[in-house]
Amino acid sequence: MQDKVNLLLENAKKEVAALQSSRELADLKVKYLGKTGEVTALLKGMKDIPSEKRAEFGKTVNVLKEQVAALFEEKATALKKEEMLKSFEKDAVDITLDGKKVSFGNLHPLNIVRNKVIDAFIGMGFEVFEGPELELDYYCFQALNIPKDHPARDMQDTFYISDNVVLRTHTSPGQVRVMEKKKPPIKILSPGRVYRADDDASHSPMFHQIEGLVVDKGITLCDLKGILDEFVQIMFDKDTKTRLRPSYFPFTEPSVEVDVTCSECHGKGCKLCKGTGWIEILGAGIVNKKVLENCGIDSDEYSGLAFGLGIERTTMIKYGVPDIRTLFENDVRFLKQFGRK
Ligand code: PHE
Repeated sequence: MQDKVNLLLENAKKEVAALQSSRELADLKVKYLGKTGEVTALLKGMKDIPSEKRAEFGKTVNVLKEQVAALFEEKATALKKEEMLKSFEKDAVDITLDGKKVSFGNLHPLNIVRNKVIDAFIGMGFEVFEGPELELDYYCFQALNIPKDHPARDMQDTFYISDNVVLRTHTSPGQVRVMEKKKPPIKILSPGRVYRADDDASHSPMFHQIEGLVVDKGITLCDLKGILDEFVQIMFDKDTKTRLRPSYFPFTEPSVEVDVTCSECHGKGCKLCKGTGWIEILGAGIVNKKVLENCGIDSDEYSGLAFGLGIERTTMIKYGVPDIRTLFENDVRFLKQFGRK
């Protein structure tokens, strides 16, 4: 009997010594001390032992049980320590490495410019009004003195939704919507998306405009020039100048095209301004009397000025972006340049 006990203890010692992990230890512990384990089996065999020897047998097996349990406990402590050291080594942090950078998002350049434009005009007393992108032909064209079949319709390649509904080709319908509701004095800004069937390095089928409209007694081209001079100096820099060139829009009379001195070369002539020193920035003019009348405003008493500024164009001039498509490709390498440094 004692031999059997000794052998079992020897085996347990050997097996415990060879253990590599806590998981193996748990399995082996079951093999010896579990419900159907080897030590437990000895205890269960007690009933077959003659009664005079039973007490001694019980003592021996209990001692064995304690010894085996102690073996496991000792090994468990050693393994735990070993495993902890290993995990320290594995998860070690190199405190000399650079920290991870937290990157900030930033506004899209078009939104930066849009906000700047709006801020500049709000500073001059303008209010913001937003009109619909899906617009009635009446507001987009007819009320602006562009009747159906008028040749001026060819100036803007229109996406027609139906005979009488279009994707607005400009923000000018905002002028009519405001003048129909509000009596002068009027001083509004109408920003938003506009659409034209046009797509190349300087045109996108969807782009953004900001319309400006001032209606009051005695408004002239001088007011237009003054407002725009103030605006370009806020938008670009203090030395920026404007130049008005005669042009044609059915809804303004007279109409002008407005140029600014090139932000890149300050008028000397470079690639951005194609050597002229000037870059076209917007269309404008004195509101056509017919448009005032269409909106129920007495054109003998009041006059107005209007301008339509392209946000993409302004952004390209301000930041020297040569291709409009860059503004819509959402390449983060490009967009990141407009964020915090
Ligand atoms: N709506 C014109 C365009 O998109 C610009 C413009 C606005 C011209 C206001 C004159 C007055 O081309």
